Amino acid sequence: MSDDDTTAGSGSVAALEKAWAEDPLMMDYLDPASPYFGLKRLSTDLYLRALADVLDAVESTDRVLDLGCGIGRFTVELAKRAGEVVAVDPCASSLAACRRHLAEAGLSERVRIEQADLSYLRDVPDGAFDLVLCAEVLNYSDDPEADMAEIVRVTQPSGCAIVSIEGRFGALVVRGVGEDQWGDALGSGRLANSSDGAIWLPTLDEFAALVQTPSGGRASVIGSHFLGEGVFWTSLDDERLGDDAYRRRIAQIDETLNADERVRPWARVFIAVLFKD
Ligand SMILES: C[S@@+](CC[C@H](N)C(=O)[O-])C[C@H]1O[C@@H](n2cnc3c(N)ncnc32)[C@H](O)[C@@H]1O
Repeated sequence: MSDDDTTAGSGSVAALEKAWAEDPLMMDYLDPASPYFGLKRLSTDLYLRALADVLDAVESTDRVLDLGCGIGRFTVELAKRAGEVVAVDPCASSLAACRRHLAEAGLSERVRIEQADLSYLRDVPDGAFDLVLCAEVLNYSDDPEADMAEIVRVTQPSGCAIVSIEGRFGALVVRGVGEDQWGDALGSGRLANSSDGAIWLPTLDEFAALVQTPSGGRASVIGSHFLGEGVFWTSLDDERLGDDAYRRRIAQIDETLNADERVRPWARVFIAVLFKD
């Protein structure tokens, strides 16, 4: 693919493999030596806090899908709780790291790893999973509506799907946007760049519509990651990210910002929880 390819998803895996080859420690942010360890630990804390009720309800007999699992920060958390986890990602290097982290946690036996993209869903029977997690992956989808419908289809009628995505304004603040890209970036939210190929960055309203339409059930959406990797990143003290109390305080501020309707659309990440019934 070329740098100006604007098909969402088409370049992301090649770009990831290149990044792994150039700087594996930057990519493997679950390694305490990674420069992103602290920031991603905060990010994972924000997710685990926002999803505490759903994760607490996971039972040891549950079948769980981690779609676009990356290096497995959530695969490990899910495997601690569920009896059977399927972890899917198209990037071989990320899956190798995921395997490593599962082995370190003694959780390998509970997880089946598949190298595949979102089209993996097409061969999955209806209602095959009690819980589906798809974190920050639909940005790379060529057809988010179709993929979202598939996520809901493979979720049990009594089950739950968690879908998160990078939000338009929060991401545009932090990602580099060329002067010729602003029209598309603000209009359609389609953003081509050399590191990811092309991505789709929905507004809060667009994401809420995306997740609500196929579920027919209950969907709630929150905004997250305002500090850290988001619009208020200058408020974060990187030196203190190793301090649990500091990360808790940042998480509280994140919740305060989400509660403010003026600010919520500016979240870096939107997180949706969908119950089908
Ligand atoms: C931002 S990372 C998120 C990883 C993981 N879910 C997490 O939150 O730590 C995006 C992931 O999506 C994967 N990805 C990119 N394009 C994809 C596609 N078309 N189908 C499935 N996964 C894809 C990448 O390989 C990468 O692991």
